[in-house]
Amino acid sequence: MCRWCKVAEFKDIQPNSIKEFQVERDKILLINTQDQLYALEASCPHMGYPLRFGSLSGKVLRCGFHYAEFNIEDGSVLAKPVDSDTRGLKRYPVKVEEGIIFVQLEDEK
Ligand code: FES
Repeated sequence: MCRWCKVAEFKDIQPNSIKEFQVERDKILLINTQDQLYALEASCPHMGYPLRFGSLSGKVLRCGFHYAEFNIEDGSVLAKPVDSDTRGLKRYPVKVEEGIIFVQLEDEK
């Protein structure tokens, strides 16, 4: 089962910004490019550091710690730190209704 959970007001996510939110038990990274909103897991799969300290270049999110790079459209890994087997980022369905951002979470099993 999945359900939509409120994350933030859309006006609080400026264009070209990256923000982290705690939504129930998940840490969610919201990325607002000029034309699209993305919701991804907020911790880097390499060593768990917060991706909110990373940088964005087009559709590429770069971790600020060991410079793994991820495609924000599908979460795939574009560059791995040396000697690691870093997986891609989990993506969350995201929508905006009446100025409120919602992400879809899976219920606990
Ligand atoms: S923690 Fe992100 S690349 Fe190492």
